[in-house]
Amino acid sequence: MKHRAHAPPASCGRTLIIERQSLGVWTATIVEARDAAQIECFTLDGGPGREATVDDLCSIAESLAADLGPVDSVIFLAEDTGSSKGFEPRLVAGYPLPVWVVHPSSAIASSVPPQHARFVILDFRGGGSASLLKRGAGAVIDDLIECDGDLRSLLSRRPHRQVVHTDLLADLISAPAPGASAAVAVSAASAHDTANPMRAENVFAHLLHDLEPMLGVLQSFGYDAVVCVSTLFSSPSVAVAFANEASRLSGDRRVPFILSTRADRYSGALRCVSAVGRSPGVWFAGTIDRPAFSLVTERNIAYDVRHVSRHIFDLDDPTLASQLDGRQTFIVVDRAVNEQYGRALKSYAERHIDLVGELIIDATEAEKSWPLVERICAEALRCGLGREGIMMALGGGITLDVTGMAASIFRRGIRYVRVPTTLVGLIDAGVGIKQGVNFASKKNLLGSFYPPFGCVNDPLFLKTLPRRHIACGVAEMIKIALVCDRRLFEILEANINQFVDSHFQKPALAADESILRAQLSMLQQLQPNLYEHDLRRWVDFGHTFSPTLELSSRHELAHGEAVALDMALATALAVQRHVCHISVVQRMIRLYHAAQLPVIHALCSSDVLATSLDETRLHRGGNLNLVVPTEVGAGAFLQDVEPSEIDAAARFVAGVEPALADA
Ligand SMILES: NC(=O)c1ccc[n+]([C@@H]2O[C@H](COP(=O)([O-])OP(=O)(O)OC[C@H]3O[C@@H](n4cnc5c(N)ncnc54)[C@H](O)[C@@H]3O)[C@@H](O)[C@H]2O)c1
Ligand SMILES: [Zn+2]
Repeated sequence: MKHRAHAPPASCGRTLIIERQSLGVWTATIVEARDAAQIECFTLDGGPGREATVDDLCSIAESLAADLGPVDSVIFLAEDTGSSKGFEPRLVAGYPLPVWVVHPSSAIASSVPPQHARFVILDFRGGGSASLLKRGAGAVIDDLIECDGDLRSLLSRRPHRQVVHTDLLADLISAPAPGASAAVAVSAASAHDTANPMRAENVFAHLLHDLEPMLGVLQSFGYDAVVCVSTLFSSPSVAVAFANEASRLSGDRRVPFILSTRADRYSGALRCVSAVGRSPGVWFAGTIDRPAFSLVTERNIAYDVRHVSRHIFDLDDPTLASQLDGRQTFIVVDRAVNEQYGRALKSYAERHIDLVGELIIDATEAEKSWPLVERICAEALRCGLGREGIMMALGGGITLDVTGMAASIFRRGIRYVRVPTTLVGLIDAGVGIKQGVNFASKKNLLGSFYPPFGCVNDPLFLKTLPRRHIACGVAEMIKIALVCDRRLFEILEANINQFVDSHFQKPALAADESILRAQLSMLQQLQPNLYEHDLRRWVDFGHTFSPTLELSSRHELAHGEAVALDMALATALAVQRHVCHISVVQRMIRLYHAAQLPVIHALCSSDVLATSLDETRLHRGGNLNLVVPTEVGAGAFLQDVEPSEIDAAARFVAGVEPALADA
């Protein structure tokens, strides 16, 4: 039996949802409002070839309610407008429960942006129906609720409907989701109105006429905006006149108006919702004394994370050359990398790269700062790097970070290609879209989100990477494995000694798989949340205390080492909270030992780290969102952590270590 998840307003307690599946076949679901969980569903049969009528459904609902205990509201769902003809609210107005007749328009449902929690769309005169659409914040539903008649008649001529209608609105509104915003949409003219310009003024007048009583309703329900849909608004003068008039009507209420020119009923409604949800377009959104325009556009982001087939600078390997696309290229190189690979790069460049210049930098945290970004820009300018050119970074996370920063602002942003040479670079810094530099004694305080033009990977670079930095990469691998990828964790456990000894060259298949899995898991985490609109990110595991640890150690601790310490503390905290089994810490520490990662450090105390709780809250929109594992491959977020818990966690970690060292 197919079912969408439905979330009625919280005020409704239990809701009975009756949904038409096909002729004569209906399903009923009882939903607990608070968690919107479907607790029961079964099939109703209207009889062979016979469509159930609303009266049938009402009595069925009544008897179900008697069987299942009281329900607070009933929702009828019909697949399309046609099949709902028999279920006009008028027929059910006398029913003792609030009854909503709903068109499950999946197109509308899927278009509602999640940040806009609640909508009411009143669709006027396009067939005489008013439609309401609601979305519960965080819930998976959107129901288009259709009421017959326009609002004015609802409010005046048919008092009993007014009750139904305002109950319904009240239900929608009495359950505000935290941070929810809402809108009311008015769809005015149907096609024939615009075909006849003589009627335009009429429609205009009607629209305003309907708007007036509605504004009162709106105001009392605290809506954020009114969306008005009419083809009339394709004329700017009409649109502005309307907005002015509507603003006048809204008086002190100062309701912002958003005008859309689409008039067909459902796509008009859809457009309304999108408008408030900011779909692409230029929208008028303001009041008479505070006019405003809103520009919304969509950006497609696509970039490749590629792997070479031989070695990146092998003269017969085309991967890097094709990524650089024959464009002018300016390369920023890590000094240590240049010492090892400078000559190979030079011969490859002679054959394959339109190289305009090169800057060799020292990859240290002290250097990873604004002045270095300026130096890169100045040098790129001196070399004549044009707007269509490429800035390429060759090095570890530090080199990628500073070069990415420079590329994101040079000539307001030019193409940026990454070639990571560290394990952290391969699986982390090279994969996402952000970069940062240290500023005012804060890690990565200045930074940007800037998608790369591409990223080319060659794990052979790891052969010369100092072992300590291999360990740092292992820490970032453990990070993603422990909260997102159980299989990766197991691969690490099975091969860690060989991985570390061979610098991830052996065993070849497992080493490749570990790198690819780490990249894939990371990309999968990033893809739906590339710009971090959602600040609850699994990949922040190990990144709450680590910035403070790195800085407090005056960068004696490398990034990966600080991440390792942070993860150990967080996992111990989870064990103390009884949300994670101690074996997880033990397995983790076993990996640390094999990789020679630090397990505990003198800086792991509340004296040093209490401030990082506040820092993190500032960085994560007021919430701590401390990621902890709950088992291998899964995690949870903690919000309230007392500084004393940090000390207890540190003692705990210190206690686990010797036992394992003996093992
Ligand atoms: N932007 C992001 O998404 C992101 C993600 C993770 C880390 N980072 C940042 O990356 C930095 C850490 O980067 P990292 O761990 O990749 O290393 P790194 O850039 O600090 O380099 C580590 C050391 O290895 C040397 N080196 C690099 N590649 C080498 C090679 N192939 N052979 C020999 N020596 C080599 C460098 O000269 C340096 O001394 C931190 O500043 C961290 O904040 C950024
Ligand atoms: Zn990191």
